[in-house]
Amino acid sequence: MQHDKVLILDFGSQYTQLIARRVRELNIYSEIHPFNKIPTNIEEYKAVVLSGSPFSVRSEEALHPDLSNIRGKKPMLAVCYGAQYLAHFSGGEVAPSNTREYGRANLSFIKSNEPFLAHIHTGSQVWMSHSDTIKKLPDNAVLIASTHDVENAAYRINGEETYAIQFHPEVYHSTDGKQLLENFLVDIAGLKQDWTPDSFVEETVEAIKEKVGNDKVVLGLSGGVDSTVAAVLLNKAIGKNLYCIFVNNGLLRKNEFESVLKQYEGMGLNVKGVDASNRFLEALKGIEDPEKKRKAIGNSFIEVFDDEAHKLEEVKWLAQGTIYPDVIESVSATGGPSATIKSHHNVGGLPDFMKLKIVEPLRAIFKDEVRRVGSTLGIDPELLGRHPFPGPGLGIRILGDITAEKVRILQEVDAIFINGLKSWGLYDKVWQAGAMLLPVNSVGVMGDERTYEKCVALRAVESTDGMTADWVNLPYEFLQKTSNDIINKVKGVNRVVYDISSKPPATIEWE
Ligand code: XMP
Repeated sequence: MQHDKVLILDFGSQYTQLIARRVRELNIYSEIHPFNKIPTNIEEYKAVVLSGSPFSVRSEEALHPDLSNIRGKKPMLAVCYGAQYLAHFSGGEVAPSNTREYGRANLSFIKSNEPFLAHIHTGSQVWMSHSDTIKKLPDNAVLIASTHDVENAAYRINGEETYAIQFHPEVYHSTDGKQLLENFLVDIAGLKQDWTPDSFVEETVEAIKEKVGNDKVVLGLSGGVDSTVAAVLLNKAIGKNLYCIFVNNGLLRKNEFESVLKQYEGMGLNVKGVDASNRFLEALKGIEDPEKKRKAIGNSFIEVFDDEAHKLEEVKWLAQGTIYPDVIESVSATGGPSATIKSHHNVGGLPDFMKLKIVEPLRAIFKDEVRRVGSTLGIDPELLGRHPFPGPGLGIRILGDITAEKVRILQEVDAIFINGLKSWGLYDKVWQAGAMLLPVNSVGVMGDERTYEKCVALRAVESTDGMTADWVNLPYEFLQKTSNDIINKVKGVNRVVYDISSKPPATIEWE
């Protein structure tokens, strides 16, 4: 790959991935590496960005890598912790701040002849998030911007291409953040802006051809964006040597198996639909525990996929839709591996005995880039804009044991909810939506009859990556209509509730 690259050294900030994405939005390729694992091929990177961090440079556990191979030798931008790090270890002074320095602030002083601050004007809004403040700048520093509360908001080092800012240019609330990154990366560091979806497609197709040659590749399609884009890319590279398998686990949305399969065929993919609904339902019989359900679904998937892959002769490769956030090795702010809240089941994690080599064409890109690449490849925008849907499907939205009848009920409810969101123009305003079938019956009255039937919960959330989420304030009129439709049309349901929990402390799925 012949692109100029930016190295982002991660000190554990929650915004590190955002820095990489903002840089990529400028059509410049960026990579995240942990602060303590600086790549040995450092000469391949044209600029370096130091991220923020939850740590204080004054604390004992302060993260301080040896930057002697970078500092002064390459253009460097130090953000928040990075800016404090430079100050603390180079003759400046960092101390706890007296005033709150979180959220919105405005640049009140700007040295206007600085190329780093070109096109940025006094009053520009920036986003702060720090509890320490730089009291004294490091040696050879020149102050170039301040806010009302933070005098040392931006500085540069004389005689070096080193810039430091106390605020976060990567968050949307820093309105000129992208301009600032462009000033630094393009005008100062001289990087080319040639990392585009078109160039990605072209290069990836060539790389796949080179890697797999005339070998056969198998890929599990899930109906989601990532596996679909991966399949279309591979199809472009190797055509009929790509064998796609789309498994119906019986836990998909209403009519989804048939309609998505048709869509795949229409896209020219060599795809086989395998209806294994009964096998999954059988494996799930009587299981109530969420983790055991996930395991049962995961294992059944592996069995079905393995059976199908064995029917193909001489397959050497397994393709997966893994994306960049799955492979970034980030610094954990808690210092250890995070607790397993839920064991997510995906197409990955196939057993060793399959002995297939792995090809992952989307390994280097973020979700929003996957969508851009998908659109360059001509994939239907409706498919690219679909909400995320979990691998175990409705299996983790039916609380308690799973039966064919419960799946039917939930599919009907879900279809009314999702189609309603679409027809009210709300679907694209919501990050993810779905319905949960609760394991309780409650008393109702329909006509003059007493009913004792199921309750469903509707959930619609806004989020950027599923890590945190908030419930969406859907219009009451919409909820009213949807609730009526569900109770009138779906036999077996007499009560609808709306989930108003955020994540954390709740999660998006109920299991
Ligand atoms: P939670 O419920 O953990 O969900 O807040 C966060 C996001 O992950 C999806 N999810 C899954 N996706 N396999 C998947 O492929 C899983 O086992 C799984 N569990 C949750 C969930 O739909 C949401 O988008």
